[in-house]
Amino acid sequence: RGNQMWGGRFASGPAAIMQAINASISFDRKLHAEDIRGSIAHSEMLAEKGILTKADQKKIAKGLKTILAEIEGGAFAFSEKLEDIHMNVEARLAELIGPTAGRLHTARSRNDQVAVDFRLWVKNECLRVAEALKGLIAVFLRRAEEHAATVMPGFTHMQAAQPVTFGHHCMAYVEMFSRDLSRVRDAIERMDESPLGAAALAGTGFPIDRHMTAKALGFREPTRNSLDSVSDRDFALEFLSLSAICGTHLSRLAEEIVIWSTPQFGFIRLSDSFSTGSSIMPQKKNPDAAELVRAKTGRINGHLVALLTVMKGLPLTYSKDMQEDKEAVFDAAETLDLMLAAMTGMVGDMTVDQVAMKRAAGAGFSTATDLADWLVRTLGMPFREAHHVTGRAVALAEEKKVGLEKLALADLQELHPGITQDVFSVLSVQNSVKSRVSYGGTAPSEVRKQIRAWKKRLAKL
Ligand code: ARG
Repeated sequence: RGNQMWGGRFASGPAAIMQAINASISFDRKLHAEDIRGSIAHSEMLAEKGILTKADQKKIAKGLKTILAEIEGGAFAFSEKLEDIHMNVEARLAELIGPTAGRLHTARSRNDQVAVDFRLWVKNECLRVAEALKGLIAVFLRRAEEHAATVMPGFTHMQAAQPVTFGHHCMAYVEMFSRDLSRVRDAIERMDESPLGAAALAGTGFPIDRHMTAKALGFREPTRNSLDSVSDRDFALEFLSLSAICGTHLSRLAEEIVIWSTPQFGFIRLSDSFSTGSSIMPQKKNPDAAELVRAKTGRINGHLVALLTVMKGLPLTYSKDMQEDKEAVFDAAETLDLMLAAMTGMVGDMTVDQVAMKRAAGAGFSTATDLADWLVRTLGMPFREAHHVTGRAVALAEEKKVGLEKLALADLQELHPGITQDVFSVLSVQNSVKSRVSYGGTAPSEVRKQIRAWKKRLAKL
């Protein structure tokens, strides 16, 4: 027997392998709630416009609600023969209410149906990601507040550069994740249009009201071009790209956590709930969750490139290629949700070793710039010359195997006679960070200002 939905002109059914490559039900069943919601909104609009009788609409809506309950209760028998979620639901509706079920698909196609279902799903996922990002930002704000004055080394090239505070470092991630959040908001803004009613591709001759269905489904307005409505997957691409960028931020953080938690660094200790042991080496505490966040970022990047590649060769409008959009988005969404939750947990309850951080902050002559700045400020030396004198001081300290602050004043005066005891006040890591009061700088006073501003902003994000 041919397909009961479109088999009219077919003499025989599809080959088993045709069915296998064509079916999407194994994954698009995830869209069941959106599909039923879309169908109910469509039926209500058809009834309102006199395209469907009120009595038929009631029967259809009741049947669809029964199906939703069946699916949610695990009592629904999905069939691969029926290809996808749309036809599985419609076939079951026919079983439940008879031929009236066939009236639901008036003035609609699976092309606008899948487009509206998928937009609803992606939009909802974006809202979930926004909430998760707010949770992560809140955790960073709390850690930043606790450690606004905790000194740690700041790095460039992974080499100790200048002392910073751990609170400042946390606030860098607040900036990054807030940009991610604003990308999510932007994407929602653009995808907030309903394609329902574009029908197959050209619109329909039935007197439908697309504004009504758009409103009922929580969209700002209907899309304006029927061809674009069924061929556009920008909303999925935007979700994947914002996920990839957010994943990249999470991955850089994960990498820092991996490094910081090594005994060699010892800046942080992960809680028992967010680390694992080794089955052979009893002393080990491994940062598996951080490593997996780092690795899973690759998966999201892969999904982004996969869908970009699927879309790039498609002429308008719908091609079956587009069915490949779903697994990419579903897996990326599940992955990102997990990454955000794991990171929020890890950062929230890791222990910060202030002693280890401070010790490391002083290593590698990290206050050399402060010495040069002192020469400029106090002696009026041009910075280039100050840089040179300081370089010689570093070489001397290296030779004597001591820190800059342990050099004798007499030794420093040999490099420049104008140097006084006062210079030592700028060579400590605390005074170094305290002095960095420029807007956005690492001074605890500045960091606290930024924390206060972000806390106010967070409430409105
Ligand atoms: N399962 C299909 C998809 O996900 C639904 C749309 C099918 N439309 C069609 N004309 N074959 O893309």
